[in-house]
Amino acid sequence: MAVERTLSIIKPDATAKPGATGEILARFEQAGLKILAMKRIQLSETLAQGFYAVHKERPFYGELVKFMTSGPVVVSVLEGENAILAHRDLLGPTNSSEAPAGTIRGDFGTDIERNATHGSDAPETAKVEISYFFNASEILAPVEALT
Ligand code: CMP
Repeated sequence: MAVERTLSIIKPDATAKPGATGEILARFEQAGLKILAMKRIQLSETLAQGFYAVHKERPFYGELVKFMTSGPVVVSVLEGENAILAHRDLLGPTNSSEAPAGTIRGDFGTDIERNATHGSDAPETAKVEISYFFNASEILAPVEALT
């Protein structure tokens, strides 16, 4: 098992739900993922377009950008053993309408677009996505708890 870092985005549909941001972050921490960096921001159209550039030829791209700029998002860097897969397991399937209860997308999302969260899908994309939102100086290594 390897210690990995991944990028998480809590999307506008979830940040709009009272209590959801805190509960989602608590689920990450309860699963052993450490939050090394975090910010709540409003994405500009340009920032959202750039982040999802890989999807720019897809029919849903325009709507996706519109949705992602419709309200604040919470972006964070998570670290842990197999963090990329561990995080995606917590999120559940991309389509919230198919995501089981108990998964974050099942509990907080609505459909394939309004799916509450994003998680990096591989080490290379995680690296690119983390540096899209955070400078190295904003990412703080975990500190052991004081006893
Ligand atoms: P995310 O994990 O953020 O990565 C790309 C996003 O595109 C995905 O979650 C969905 O929100 C969105 N998406 C993927 N497929 C579709 C689709 N068929 N229709 C609308 N949105 C989609």
